Amino acid sequence: MRIAVVGRGNVGGGLADLSEQAGHELNRIGREGGDVSDAEVVVVAVPGGTISQALDNVDGLEGKTVVDATNRVGVEPPEGFSSNAEYVKSRTNGPTAKSFNINFASLYDRIGEASSRPSNLWCGEEEARQVVERLNRDAGYEPVYAGTLENASAQEDFIKLVFGIVQGDMGPFLYRMAPPDRL
Ligand SMILES: NC(=O)c1ccc[n+]([C@@H]2O[C@H](COP(=O)([O-])OP(=O)(O)OC[C@H]3O[C@@H](n4cnc5c(N)ncnc54)[C@H](OP(=O)(O)O)[C@@H]3O)[C@@H](O)[C@H]2O)c1
Repeated sequence: MRIAVVGRGNVGGGLADLSEQAGHELNRIGREGGDVSDAEVVVVAVPGGTISQALDNVDGLEGKTVVDATNRVGVEPPEGFSSNAEYVKSRTNGPTAKSFNINFASLYDRIGEASSRPSNLWCGEEEARQVVERLNRDAGYEPVYAGTLENASAQEDFIKLVFGIVQGDMGPFLYRMAPPDRL
């Protein structure tokens, strides 16, 4: 697939590397923005509070399939929306999914060490299923469907529980491997 990744940090850069290793063609876009007209899927991986500004700098989003990986740590979604993912949908009018926001980027290079494929949640629209599940499997995860796009708000809020698990040092191996400030 031709994949555009908006955000070149831990998540965007890391997922771009994993996808490239799986044979996909990558367009890596930073805060300066760019054009995603050619992309079959756009992954958004910018700080949660910058989503509006980040999309302002991206051309060719109309109708695109988008996978939103952002978390909202200490910030609300854009006004009038209950999640960043639903806001993304309003900007693109294309198939939209929320995924990759719960797993730690610092463990991307250790996914293969797990005794079984780590699960990775996604919720969103049926039209995005094929693409988001393929991105997950090609990155080494087993995608777990978590409902419609209306559940994106819950999936974004779920990160608070993950922080709680890590801070309580009660989490499974993968969560214990990375401190919350890396998420
Ligand atoms: N780190 C994790 O383990 C993890 C896991 C799941 C989800 N998340 C979420 O994924 C998102 C990205 O996290 P990250 O750890 O990859 O962050 P990061 O390493 O700080 O990277 C953020 C990227 O977004 C770009 N950016 C910053 N402000 C921007 C703006 N106003 N417009 C456009 N691009 C902008 C940055 O550009 P520059 O390179 O130019 O600064 C950078 O490429 C966040 O929402 C985070 O909560 C993180």
